[in-house]
Amino acid sequence: MRITFCCTDTQAELWLAGLREALPRACVEPWVSGAAQADYAVVWAPPQSFLDEQHDLKVIFNIGAGVDALMKLKLPLNAKVVRLDDAGMSVQMAEFVCHAVTRHFRELGDYEADMAQRIWSYRQPRSRSSFPVGVMGLGVLGERVAKALASFEFPVNGWSRSAKAIEGVQCFSGPAQLDMFLAATRILVCLLPLTPYTKDIMRRDTLARLQPGGYVINVARGAHLVDNDLLSLIDDGHLSGATLDVFRTEPLPQDHPFWQHPKITVTPHTSARTIRDESIAQIVGKIDALERGEAIAGIVEPGRGY
Ligand code: NAP
Ligand code: GLV
Repeated sequence: MRITFCCTDTQAELWLAGLREALPRACVEPWVSGAAQADYAVVWAPPQSFLDEQHDLKVIFNIGAGVDALMKLKLPLNAKVVRLDDAGMSVQMAEFVCHAVTRHFRELGDYEADMAQRIWSYRQPRSRSSFPVGVMGLGVLGERVAKALASFEFPVNGWSRSAKAIEGVQCFSGPAQLDMFLAATRILVCLLPLTPYTKDIMRRDTLARLQPGGYVINVARGAHLVDNDLLSLIDDGHLSGATLDVFRTEPLPQDHPFWQHPKITVTPHTSARTIRDESIAQIVGKIDALERGEAIAGIVEPGRGY
């Protein structure tokens, strides 16, 4: 069995060593142009030339949950794409989003500003019933996040493509229920995959439907959000701010207004990182299952884009 590795921005040696140790019967090599045809690929944002040359691939393992970069490319005819299925990401995402929600709800940014001036000043407690949180995307990450928020007793709404029933979460689905979901929400969390249907989904008309004082947490992809619409709704006072982990251009350009905005918190695409050892174990487990002819989870459906 031959495995080729083609990941940009990744410490290849550690991945190669881990894959070789876990699959001693396989030949695991970093991809170079002209290399022999492989059966499996482990990739992150590979160039089109890699996919053009490796036309016999059976399965392409993406070392992230989001496959939007891969879906823009022309894939080998018979290759299945498999994304990471949690692999240690959902707990990170739950802690990141709960932190952003509670930081906003408990006004911790204001307390930090007070501390800088040695001010001892309480704010009035706020009722969490006035801060319903809406999670867009109730997949591997979104469901975990929604349940974690519900455990803090926030009212939680969720929106997905297909209908769902999740304890403690009021579930909405499909385009017909998007407006109802937004109107029931004050803090909006985006955990959708980036597809042609979800690009620009957070724009003036949708964000304007959030309850007054709305707050946006984008931890999915930058292209879900229309940057200038967010800025103008904050400036108008309809929205109270945002926590943004992902951006249309990454790294976020130095002159982008998000950096300096007093009501926006910026983090560098770090809310749920790929954990190498867990990811290698998951990929190797799936290769073993496929070699035994068994079904695996996490196969991307090209028609829906995730
Ligand atoms: P997932 O398991 O595929 O879940 C996607 C969810 O979105 C599903 O509930 C799906 O509905 C819903 N959805 C998809 N298209 C929709 C549409 N048109 N309308 C309504 N709902 C729609 O994905 P995941 O593992 O939770 O990951 C979600 C995204 O998070 C990834 O694609 C990636 O972009 C992002 N991410 C970011 C980071 C970071 O560090 N910032 C880390 C990891 C992942 P159904 O359930 O009905 O299919
Ligand atoms: C990170 O953004 C991922 O998609 O895993």
